[in-house]
Amino acid sequence: MTDRESGDPPPGGEFGGAGEPPRDGSDPAPGGMPPGEFREWGHRMVDWVAGYLEDVGSYPVLAGVEPGRVRGRLAAEAPVRGEPMESLFRDFQSVVLPGITHWNHPAFFAYFAVSGSGPGILGELLTAALNVNAMVWKASPAATELEQLTLDWLRGFVGLPPGFNGTINDTASISTFHALAAARERGLPEARVRGLAGAPPGRVYATAETHSSILKAVHALGLGRDGLRPVATGPEREMDPVALTRAVEEDVAAGFRPLAVVATIGTTSVTAVDPAGAIADVAAAHGLWLHIDAAYAGPAAALPGMQGHFRGWERADSIVINPHKWLFTPIDCSALYVRDPGALHAAFSLTPAYLETGEEGVVHHMDQGLALGRRFRALKLWFVMRYFGQEGLRAILQHHIELARLLAGLVDAAPGWERWRPSPFSLVVLRHSPPGVPAPERDAANLAIMNRVNAAGTAFVSHTEIDGEVWLRFAIGNVHTMEAHVRGAWRALQEAAGPTRNGATEDVM
Ligand SMILES: Cc1ncc(COP(=O)(O)O)c(C=O)c1O
Repeated sequence: MTDRESGDPPPGGEFGGAGEPPRDGSDPAPGGMPPGEFREWGHRMVDWVAGYLEDVGSYPVLAGVEPGRVRGRLAAEAPVRGEPMESLFRDFQSVVLPGITHWNHPAFFAYFAVSGSGPGILGELLTAALNVNAMVWKASPAATELEQLTLDWLRGFVGLPPGFNGTINDTASISTFHALAAARERGLPEARVRGLAGAPPGRVYATAETHSSILKAVHALGLGRDGLRPVATGPEREMDPVALTRAVEEDVAAGFRPLAVVATIGTTSVTAVDPAGAIADVAAAHGLWLHIDAAYAGPAAALPGMQGHFRGWERADSIVINPHKWLFTPIDCSALYVRDPGALHAAFSLTPAYLETGEEGVVHHMDQGLALGRRFRALKLWFVMRYFGQEGLRAILQHHIELARLLAGLVDAAPGWERWRPSPFSLVVLRHSPPGVPAPERDAANLAIMNRVNAAGTAFVSHTEIDGEVWLRFAIGNVHTMEAHVRGAWRALQEAAGPTRNGATEDVM
């Protein structure tokens, strides 16, 4: 057995060198950190991270710094001579940390609350250590194969059938861009050679509730602002499939080329659910590419009680789910599934001679997107899925949904408060709405309530607008969030609204 197989360090130190070279410039191969120093700081930083994760609830959730404060306290130019780790770490703690908004905080309820987790953080550490660039299979076979395996696991976990091929991108925005690029490739084949100038105007359909990344993608794909046609919604802000059919038929008659429809399961503002099955029928009837944005809510499909929201999504051409949103995997990690990998290939495959590697039957992830270089993101997801197991992941997701139901019940029972319905997942949308208060005052009061709670540092909530009116978003999704955190933040919101008498507040209204 070799030293490597036995796990024992090779002679001369783990890095194969002959001890620690001095940091006085006499090191014949400058650029490396001496192994002993790395080990010492590695231990210190892992200890720091462990303590941070234990104590993160004691930090103010929201960074309390003014714009420019962090930068203003740091050197304007890079140091000419290397600095000791001690001073880097000191500045990290004294300057950087106060400028951090703690997404790991168990009372972080803004946006979509997300958190990494111990196994995800450790996977990320190993990814950084290996530093592979998994552009082609040969460039790191394990990175490519683990990406495929892990995404097959995730596909099975959320109940999607085999036949969806997965690839990991950094964000849902990029995953959606890739899906719509494939849709454009399929729907406007003329554009591949002559560009869009010679092609009929293409159209993508989505509701006004869809994430801004859809419009960004449509723009970036050269379809222009008119390339996205908004589709009317029903009372719960879900896409109306009849309106979709009407829009497509009108567009065909007017000379547009319908390309794709984007349905969202769990919209950003209120977690509305577009009816995937009915939309799939329209897509099939009109030859549209169906892309499903389940960036946030996708993992909930693993829960038996939630599957109704996802009915029909298995008929999509592409689906995005972000493990970095609600699957406890550190940012960034977005899974894009496509039914026909050839469509992504057609949009993106372009192999220069230096990347021809000759293996048969392997996937080169560079063929499935814009980027050539890619991080080994699958490792952290593999760690998360193995460490928690499917059962453990379901338990955390279910816990978040139950906390959201608890909060919904508290809001419903509180005089002068109102809740947006439904709340299908782990987001509760609410507002202080005593009777008789005109909308502009109510909006201002809710923003004031939010700002008070956030300024106090014990919780962080965000807001949205529905029909131009302000509502507060209370998103639950952090792996460390417990009932006490939800109750505490709800109490803080009520206190910030001031004493209520006969439904009217005396304080902020
Ligand atoms: C439904 C939905 N889709 C897409 C996105 C964009 O995600 P990302 O930041 O990964 O691009 C978001 C962000 O919150 C979202 O809520």
